[in-house]
Amino acid sequence: MKLWIPFAAAAGVFVGAAIIFGADWDLPPVDTDQIGYRGTGMYHTLDREDQAALRLANVAPEPLYEADPEGDRAGEFYENVQVLGDLSTDEFNLFMASITEWVSPVQGCAYCHNEENLASDEVYTKVVARRMIQMTQTVNVDWQAHVAETGVTCYTCHQGQPVPANVWSRNLVPGEKGTALGWSGGQNIVNETAGNTSLPINALESYLLEDKPIRVHSLTALPNGENTATTKETEETWGLMMHMSESLGANCMTCHNSRAFNDWDQSPPQRVTAWHGIRMAREINQTYMTGLAPVFPDNRKGPEGDVLKVSCATCHNGVQKPLYGVSMLREFVDSLGTKTNTDVPDYTTYKPGETTTMSPANTTSIEPLNGAIGEDTALASAD
Ligand code: HEC
Ligand code: HEC
Ligand code: HEC
Ligand code: HEC
Repeated sequence: MKLWIPFAAAAGVFVGAAIIFGADWDLPPVDTDQIGYRGTGMYHTLDREDQAALRLANVAPEPLYEADPEGDRAGEFYENVQVLGDLSTDEFNLFMASITEWVSPVQGCAYCHNEENLASDEVYTKVVARRMIQMTQTVNVDWQAHVAETGVTCYTCHQGQPVPANVWSRNLVPGEKGTALGWSGGQNIVNETAGNTSLPINALESYLLEDKPIRVHSLTALPNGENTATTKETEETWGLMMHMSESLGANCMTCHNSRAFNDWDQSPPQRVTAWHGIRMAREINQTYMTGLAPVFPDNRKGPEGDVLKVSCATCHNGVQKPLYGVSMLREFVDSLGTKTNTDVPDYTTYKPGETTTMSPANTTSIEPLNGAIGEDTALASAD
């Protein structure tokens, strides 16, 4: 009897089952898009069911109403409006109602406010939100090379949740302290940020917080000593590329012609947009997220105590243009499409529940506004 037949059949069944039930295998029907010049093999295969689910999950909400730009300025009318002072009170109130819908629809205004005294900065989320307004303005004004006129609002990242669905923090590297088997160096551990591969674990930290060089490609067939990139650096670049592809629901061909990954002339224009996106993500993380570390409570930080940070997936949420390119910014140009006050308070002095105004001019202010709240705690903390 030919023994190999049952073995081959068993192996076939096993491999077949692994393909069908394993990760990232799409059941038909699928659609195939040609995304490059014909003959270059640049295709993108999309699973119809996944696409339908993404369509449902990434819908921009309608504006609540149209605000009247005339009338009193919020900065004069209210007591402690530092960034959005140029809006009319009607625009300001629409903005408050909108961010409640975008960030904390369940918790309401109280998520950021002491409802007895809306002017107070004692709730940490309000201090964070004010900085987030400045961050969103910077993205929309300074990074049009990436976000174009579509721009972003709080909803792009938050989508109705106080903590956006796709954030990252420094990964605990198992064995970092040294074990009998040596230090893994953050390699060979399956990780989600690199598309469930076991590529180096901290690619986002290297490229979306720090600015380690991403280019690793040799330009000659044989080594000539010019390319100093190591295998680990190459794998780390690959980890970032996996992250970028997954975040956009795209593949390598969306930004490269795989016959020459390095060559910009053969790359689709999306690659240039992505280049700017990498720099934008760095600025967001370095200038805005990291600086807020003293304001966030511990339960809003990663296992290593750093703040949660932004990646490509935070805005893109699995689609090539966030919210399929629908511009919510158009209705909020005055608030989020213009850079207003860019001053930064000294966050290291912030005491949640106590500090009642947090402003660059008066960073350690503990004077109660109108004497309305927290008089005792404010005075006590002055000692
Ligand atoms: C996600 C956080 C957040 C939510 C939710 C929120 N606000 Fe605010 N609110 C802020 C921030 C930040 C400021 C200060 C803006 C600035 O400095 O330009 C502010 C300021 C205000 C002020 C000005 C108070 C003063 O006298 O200085 C009013 C009024 C206000 N909010 C009302 C509301 C109302 C009503 C709601 C619910 C519909 C609400 N806010 C929900 C963050 C929030
Ligand atoms: C580029 C993506 C992005 C945009 C745009 C954005 N945020 Fe955030 N936001 C984050 C991330 C990341 C965090 C960190 C989550 C954490 O550590 O709690 C965060 C945290 C917050 C928090 C603290 C939530 C909590 O429970 O601790 C508030 C409040 C907030 N954002 C408000 C806003 C507002 C208001 C806007 C629009 C003006 C906005 N955000 C725009 C990414 C974004
Ligand atoms: C969203 C666009 C995008 C996607 C998707 C993408 N890349 Fe990249 N890739 C870039 C950009 C931009 C750079 C250059 C980064 C820089 O110089 O800062 C780059 C650089 C590279 C490099 C280094 C090139 C050099 O000059 O050394 C390699 C290799 C690479 N990508 C491979 C891949 C692979 C493999 C995939 C799929 C897993 C992929 N990329 C997916 C945009 C993309
Ligand atoms: C602050 C939110 C935000 C972040 C973070 C972000 N993007 Fe984008 N990205 C956008 C917006 C908005 C657009 C749509 C611009 C437009 O309408 O042309 C876009 C467009 C793109 C496009 C062009 C898509 C096309 O088909 O034209 C690419 C490629 C891209 N992003 C890659 C990236 C990569 C890679 C990262 C991470 C390094 C990233 N983005 C991070 C908001 C963001």
